[in-house]
Amino acid sequence: MFSLLPYNTFALDVHAQHGIVVNALSDLKFPLPEPYIILGRGSDVLFTSDFEGTALINNIRGVDILHEDNEYLVRVGGGEILDELIVKLLNQGICGLENLSAIPGTVGAAPIQNIGAYGVEIGDFIASVEVCDLKSGKTFTLDKDACQFGYRDSYFKRHPQEHLFIIYVNFRFPDEPKLILSYQGLRDQDLKDAQAVRAQVRALRARKLPDPRYVGNAGSFFKNPLVDAQTVTRLREQYPDIPVFTAEGGRYKLAAGWLIDKAGCRGITHGHAGTWEHQALVLVNRGQAKPHEIVSLAKYVSTQVMAHFGIELVPEVRLYGRNGEVAWDLLL
Ligand code: FAD
Ligand code: EPU
Repeated sequence: MFSLLPYNTFALDVHAQHGIVVNALSDLKFPLPEPYIILGRGSDVLFTSDFEGTALINNIRGVDILHEDNEYLVRVGGGEILDELIVKLLNQGICGLENLSAIPGTVGAAPIQNIGAYGVEIGDFIASVEVCDLKSGKTFTLDKDACQFGYRDSYFKRHPQEHLFIIYVNFRFPDEPKLILSYQGLRDQDLKDAQAVRAQVRALRARKLPDPRYVGNAGSFFKNPLVDAQTVTRLREQYPDIPVFTAEGGRYKLAAGWLIDKAGCRGITHGHAGTWEHQALVLVNRGQAKPHEIVSLAKYVSTQVMAHFGIELVPEVRLYGRNGEVAWDLLL
């Protein structure tokens, strides 16, 4: 048995049948026995039970930096820790990812849901992604367009059946740093450089989000719902102060944390699971929680939001059970 405790930030005491820490592709013998799952640091997963297969832990390392034609081209092993990469780049004067400071997890997982925070998404700086097709062992490269990045979305997330293991991510950063300060909490500060932006982002996050080293959690449990103009009008009539943001494709983004909060679910505790007092969108392990307690709290929260607002919440966190990924609908 292979403990997944170090590989899920919910800190659930779950196991896989086997585990392989992948330092290089040569650590894998193809064809791989199924089922298997790919993990970085498990900061966006919820295990609903033990997993009866092999956990492949990405630990492919290396950062290569090339400077040419007024830009930096940076090739990074998928097992590198994203926040460590940001520090390394900033120390060399390479800016762009500072708004994504303090997001846990690996570089290889970042393109999967196109991680984002404070007005920046990782896809903004990705030139291409190098993958291994785990069914055949063949490697190939997807350029940025092929990755189909969207809000918490990508080609990889929509095609899990293709079993693509991200081995390297290639970034492109312009020479001239351009600070992104559009987000509330950044724009009203006198932030002069990328290091200052990083410090401010870290401070904002520390106020709102629990640190997984002390409180098990996987960040936002649900995605912010994308809705049409009609829905916004309906909600505004009843809740004039509802936060609404414009989003891609003429749609509008609602704040799931606000909806959960207003549905009376901020800071609640069910068994050993709860919602965070300072950010209702974050489900937490209050200590010794079992997988079913987190699942049942997630169901409760989504049911309350549906009852109050008629809005469906969809998990951002990926759910894994005995045989692999579990569809949220099947848990309801
Ligand atoms: P894991 O959780 O191990 O994996 C996530 C998914 O990606 C799984 O489906 C896994 O199979 C797949 N995967 C992982 N690595 C690979 C690979 N190499 N190849 C193919 N598939 C792979 N996310 C944001 O977007 N914005 C935030 O602001 C943010 N804040 C967070 C704050 C906290 C406190 C926490 C705990 C999480 C937060 N997250 C945030 C979520 C999470 O950190 C990111 O999604 C991160 O990219 C997950 O990295 P990981 O290495 O832990 O991936
Ligand atoms: N709000 C409440 N009550 C709450 C929580 C939030 O009223 O309990 C309100 C806030 O006051 C604010 C709005 O909801 O008006 C949005 O909240 P916040 O700014 O905290 O951001 P969020 O939409 O909840 C998103 C991402 C985070 C990311 C931050 C910063 C999603 C699902 N979440 O959170 O990403 O760090 O913006 O950009 O898009 C993650 O994905 O795991 C994650 C933490």
